[in-house]
Amino acid sequence: MDTEVDVRDSSPTLLKQGAEARVFESTFVGRRSIVKERFSKKYRHPTLDSKLTLKRLNAEARCLTKARRLGVPTPVLYAVDPVLHTLTFQYVEGPSVKDVFLEFGLHGVIEEQLDNIASQIGDAIGKLHDGGLVHGDLTTSNMLLTNGTNQLVLIDFGLSFTSTLSEDKAVDLYVLERALLSMHSSCGNVMDRILAAYRKSSKQWSSTLNKLAQVRQRGRKRTMVG
Ligand SMILES: Nc1ncnc2c1ncn2[C@@H]1O[C@H](COP(=O)(O)OP(=O)(O)O)[C@@H](O)[C@H]1O
Ligand SMILES: [Mg+2]
Repeated sequence: MDTEVDVRDSSPTLLKQGAEARVFESTFVGRRSIVKERFSKKYRHPTLDSKLTLKRLNAEARCLTKARRLGVPTPVLYAVDPVLHTLTFQYVEGPSVKDVFLEFGLHGVIEEQLDNIASQIGDAIGKLHDGGLVHGDLTTSNMLLTNGTNQLVLIDFGLSFTSTLSEDKAVDLYVLERALLSMHSSCGNVMDRILAAYRKSSKQWSSTLNKLAQVRQRGRKRTMVG
C-alpha cells in the first residue's frame, strides 16, 4: 500500500452525483479536499470504457494544470489515481459565482462586487483562450470565489480541450452567455462587463468576438458534438 491510500479519509461525503462523475468532500493529508470520481457507463464495453474514463481523467488533470500555468487560479491538484479513476483537489473555501449572483437577484445587486467578479471572469477566460485552452463548461457553478480575497477560481475542466480556433473560443463564451441569460437575468447585462474584460485580456479578442456574433445568430447547433 502506498502512503496516498493510507492517508485517505475513510468517510468521504457525497456532494454531487452527476452523469459521468461523483464528487465527494474528503480530507487529503489532513487537508479538506474534493475527490472527483469518474465512473464507467454500463452500456459501454468494459475495456473500452476503462480506457475512455482514464483518458478523460488525465485530460481533466492536464487541462486544469495548464490553466494554472496560464495564470488562471484553479484548485491545487493533490493526486491522480488511475486505478480508482479519481482526481483529488484542494477544497476552495467560498461560494460559487452562481450563489453570489442568485443572492444579488434576491437582495439587490452590489454593483462594485458584480463588476469585480465580471472582470475576473473575463480576464480568466482571455488567459485560457490565448493559451489555447477552451474550458467547455463555463457556467457560474464552475466558478468559485475564495472567502476573504474574493479571488475567482475556475473548476471543472472535465469538458476542456486545447484549441486555437476562434470558433471554439466563441462557443465557450456563448455557453456562458446563455447560462447567464437563463439563470441570472436579474443581474443585468453581466456578459457585457465580462466581454469588456475579455477584450483587455485576450490579444485575439477581435476574431473571437466576431465569431461570437455569428454563433449568436445561428445558435450553437452546428458546433455541438457528441
Ligand atoms: N475544489 C473545489 N472546492 C470546493 N468545491 C468544489 C471543488 N470542486 C468541485 N466543487 C463542488 O462540487 C461541484 C461539482 O464539481 P465539478 O468538478 O463541477 O463536477 P461536475 O462535472 O459533476 O459538475 C461543484 O459545482 C462545486 O460545488
Ligand atoms: Mg461542474
